[in-house]
Amino acid sequence: MITPITAQLLFDKLKDIKIGGQICLFTEEKCCELAPVINEINALKAEKNAVILAHTYVSPEIIFGVADFVGDSYALSVDAKNTSADVIVFSAVKFMAETAKILNPDKDVLVPSTLNGCSLADSITGEHVRKLRTQYPDFAFVCYINTTADVKAECDVCVTSSNVYDIVERIPNQNIYFLPDKLMGQNIIVEMKRRGVQKNILLWDGTCYVHEEYDPELIHYMRLEHPDVKVVSHPECSPAILKQSDYVGSTSQMIDYVKNTSANQFFILTECGLTTRLQLEFPEKKLVGSCTMCKYMKSNTLYDILRVLKSPNPEDHIVLNPDLQTKARHCIEQMFAYTAAKK
Ligand code: 13P
Ligand code: SF4
Repeated sequence: MITPITAQLLFDKLKDIKIGGQICLFTEEKCCELAPVINEINALKAEKNAVILAHTYVSPEIIFGVADFVGDSYALSVDAKNTSADVIVFSAVKFMAETAKILNPDKDVLVPSTLNGCSLADSITGEHVRKLRTQYPDFAFVCYINTTADVKAECDVCVTSSNVYDIVERIPNQNIYFLPDKLMGQNIIVEMKRRGVQKNILLWDGTCYVHEEYDPELIHYMRLEHPDVKVVSHPECSPAILKQSDYVGSTSQMIDYVKNTSANQFFILTECGLTTRLQLEFPEKKLVGSCTMCKYMKSNTLYDILRVLKSPNPEDHIVLNPDLQTKARHCIEQMFAYTAAKK
């Protein structure tokens, strides 16, 4: 049985978070409100044999209070594949919960987020991909994991920010259509050139509304102010940002970089959730600059997690058409196959 958390323990854990604005400001009063909700969720998890998977971008009280697994989108899909729980509560965005359902058709997958979109996933439908495939019949269709099940069902292989370059390099086809992230696609083109890999890559026009906003000039001024700063960015940022970065990687790879490098000043170009995790997990490292929030990820609350565990509404369950599920599973399994073959 999980030992219940007290408001004081929660406050001691979260009080030092300084980046993230009002949503990440933990007062003693706020912790008094949150602690009983955390305890009720943890008791219900045990009762229902449920696990909570949480993306690093969701709020700190979810990550540190109730999540069983926290990670980037690749790690969470592996966790979803391996869990023996009967119920999966996926605290992130809907396409990630769909991936968990595709990998676990017999489990109940619940989504607590109230804003179920993602600017990338919403930019393209399965119908768009079907049309593109007739237009480009000799192309391999590679989709970023930030797509709906409907889109994955029409594609050949799925990638995440942690494996995108290696998988694209190893796909035998010369012609590749990458979707939906235009900026990540431009970064793939730069990286393939750097690796000396010949590919003809076409791109869809989607972007992540959080990562496309970063201005490369900001890096210049940050370096003037903090000459020793290491700039760490996500591959959803523009090529101009990546060009000036010391390290580029998925959210989990960024955490490993900060942990393992001897540098102690970092400018993190991704969603606030990563910055707050770094603040709590590595208090000796200094983070400069501010961060940006994803409204979709931050629409996850403890109250909605409690609600979906206690008495979910029909729309809180992920339900997918079985044929679509089989096709989408093939696309995701291809990613696992490429990743396993690399080892
Ligand atoms: P990763 O956590 O896989 O790096 O992805 C970031 C993201 O934007 C997910 O929506
Ligand atoms: Fe989508 Fe961007 Fe939010 Fe990730 S950060 S969920 S890509 S909108």
